[in-house]
Amino acid sequence: MAADCIIVKTLLIRAASHLWPHIVMIKFVTGLLFSFLLGFTGYAWSGDKEAGEARYQKSCINCHGPAGKGVASYPKISGNEVSYTTSKLETYRDGIKIGPNSSLMIMMARPLTDEEIADLAAYLKDAKYE
Ligand code: HEC
Repeated sequence: MAADCIIVKTLLIRAASHLWPHIVMIKFVTGLLFSFLLGFTGYAWSGDKEAGEARYQKSCINCHGPAGKGVASYPKISGNEVSYTTSKLETYRDGIKIGPNSSLMIMMARPLTDEEIADLAAYLKDAKYE
């Protein structure tokens, strides 16, 4: 009985020591995959706020006012989700009208690159007028 126990134990320990390197490898690979995915989506989706602010000051501020707060008939454009701002700017860039004054925005959005749109959206999300 006692001898059986020892045999079972040694077998278990042997199996575990054989499995262990595989578990470590699986952990390593999933870790690598996960950080790769994170890095990739981070690269694709998060714009550079500072670059966005600089781009905003170049032209957008003339109509939308400081920090996208909106001026008279020019809408407030700060505080929106990145996906919202991105899709609006892409729609205008494609020459598609959204509201009654879209032609102004279509003209402004035409020259924007994907990167500029990502940067502007990142900046506008948290831009606040103090
Ligand atoms: C000449 C004035 C003018 C300039 C400059 C301008 N916009 Fe606009 N923007 C407008 C007007 C007017 C609208 C509303 C258009 C409509 O009726 O569809 C608008 C709408 C928008 C919207 C959509 C708002 C919403 O919630 O529907 C976004 C986003 C936007 N502008 C971002 C920008 C950015 C970024 C820039 C700089 C690259 C910029 N605008 C420059 C006049 C301007």
